[in-house]
Amino acid sequence: MAFPPAFLEELKNRVPLTQVVGKRVRLQRDGKEQKGLCPFHNEKTPSFRVNDQKGVFHCFGCGAGGNVFDFLTRAEGMAFLEAVKHLADLAGMALPDPDPESEAREKRRKTIGEAMEAAALWFVAQLATQAGERGRDYLAGRGLGREALARFRLGYAPDSFDALGPALVRQGFAEDLLIEAGLRRARESDNKPFDFFRNRVIFPVADRRGRVVAFGARALGDDKPKYINSPETPLFQKSRTLYQLHHAREAAAKGQALIVAEGYMDVIALALAGFEGAVAPLGTALTEDHLVELWRLAPEPVICLDGDAAGQAAQARTAERALPLLRPGQSLRFAVLPSGQDPDSLIRAQGPEAMRACLDAATPLSQVLWRIALGERAPDTPEQKAMVRARLRDMVGRIGDEGVRRFYGDEFRRRVDEELYSARRPFDARPTMGPRRPAFRQGPRGLMRPPPQTAWQAPIREMPAPEAAQERTLVLALINHPFLIAESAERLADLSLQNKELDAIRRTLLDLAAGRADTATALDKAAVNAHVIASGQAEVLDRLVQARVEHTHSWIKPEARPETVRENFGNALTHYRDRRMRPAELEAERNRFAAEPTAQNFERLAALTPAGNGGEDGNT
Ligand code: UTP
Ligand code: MN
Repeated sequence: MAFPPAFLEELKNRVPLTQVVGKRVRLQRDGKEQKGLCPFHNEKTPSFRVNDQKGVFHCFGCGAGGNVFDFLTRAEGMAFLEAVKHLADLAGMALPDPDPESEAREKRRKTIGEAMEAAALWFVAQLATQAGERGRDYLAGRGLGREALARFRLGYAPDSFDALGPALVRQGFAEDLLIEAGLRRARESDNKPFDFFRNRVIFPVADRRGRVVAFGARALGDDKPKYINSPETPLFQKSRTLYQLHHAREAAAKGQALIVAEGYMDVIALALAGFEGAVAPLGTALTEDHLVELWRLAPEPVICLDGDAAGQAAQARTAERALPLLRPGQSLRFAVLPSGQDPDSLIRAQGPEAMRACLDAATPLSQVLWRIALGERAPDTPEQKAMVRARLRDMVGRIGDEGVRRFYGDEFRRRVDEELYSARRPFDARPTMGPRRPAFRQGPRGLMRPPPQTAWQAPIREMPAPEAAQERTLVLALINHPFLIAESAERLADLSLQNKELDAIRRTLLDLAAGRADTATALDKAAVNAHVIASGQAEVLDRLVQARVEHTHSWIKPEARPETVRENFGNALTHYRDRRMRPAELEAERNRFAAEPTAQNFERLAALTPAGNGGEDGNT
């Protein structure tokens, strides 16, 4: 049931957020807000803040944030409907009568569903007719027998503009509905509807509960496009749907591996070869929604990609996309197939054992990230090594969960020590355990592009004052004096700004510096501006410039002398880090140094500690 927005607003206004949060978190007043220990990660000093006026919470430690519904669904594990009922109870409000419009929409959803099911049955029936012979031949040629056809409900759409449509209209479905369901299309010239799927074999796509919500359709020969898919409808969102998820979930529940392949035929071939936990997105990259859906079924889905360049690029994108979503115990593995093979062709050519071997050799996410950071060639100059470390830090900084982030930090630090620092041990980029070593392309920007911002985003104007000013100062200094970017790359890389928009600019600038072969000459100011604008950050840049930071800090002005700029920027950065650096991180470094008082560990600790403070306390 959908609630009218005004009702939800009213609910939010009636119950103070602190009252809801207070049941779970012990809160103390702090200015206009209240603060407490964050329920979403482990911490000893409170960085979790609740603002009743705005009705939002935010944790400066782990980045969790949102409104009362986010809190109830995430902290209390309620479903949305439950959360609404719970709040209505607290507010003493009755749930509204079902809104007639949303009821109507709901009914329509249902009937679209009925039309899809009727179409699925009809396509299956066509496969058995005389006209369906071409479809049968095609599928037989791909090694699919009668049982497979039945199990996957494969069908055939005849070579006609008016076959499915009239058949469903005879069953009582309205033309409009068939168009809304994506089964028919209206011709541009005169709006006359025609069948969308023609002369193709049909793969019904079901939702998580097994109800048909879309179709994929493959051309019989070399016609282009090879596959077409249903358009999005109220029932079908491509970015959330995975082919055969409903079968895979049963298999995963029985302990089979959850495997993500690239295409329809791969999923079918895998399932027939005994890998029943196979799913595929519908011709798109894996989205965050897909990942979340997968993690509901299994802690470590195996992403199975072609070994060619495109497959490798997809692997890198998926790996980076997963970072903010990682949780304890929740990760990914990547199986790399021999170049040019997909699971379907591999199983046909070399049998299920070859597939099994690939899956068994799947690489953990942490290893894939390490390779991405390393780039294509072993870094052999100090600058390159420092850049690898900066990239690793940047990745680690994007991990949402604090526990996971710390272990990644540990692991990468250890590997940097072992593989980049040591002169005795020659650097070795370990060969993949898979059948073929993937050649990682270090795309100039592709790999390092900031992920889409889904977290709570504070626009610049709404930031708490002192930090906001410091962050603007730092970023504007980088824009006005790009030589600072390369000079401070390391320190900038593991710094995450509270303001997500400014932080995105920080990453854009680091990427720009990292993508350049020639790090010796300073970046040019015009190029930096152009790049930030090209990355879609023009608006933030404008606001930043209009904030007139240079009125209070004259060293930021473009004409200031580099020495002055360098010194002031260094101080500003230290000051900011000092204020922001997580006490926990400092504590970890301190313990590390206590246990192993090496020069390296001292350096690391010193880097976190404000100048002149001798490492005693960074907590102020
Ligand atoms: P591939 O081109 O790798 O094809 O597309 P495939 O799965 O190996 O197909 P076969 O074996 O030749 O039949 C992978 C997936 O991308 C989507 C489909 O979901 C396909 O399964 N795709 C591909 C499209 O949506 N449209 C296309 O034109 C091509
Ligand atoms: Mn294929």
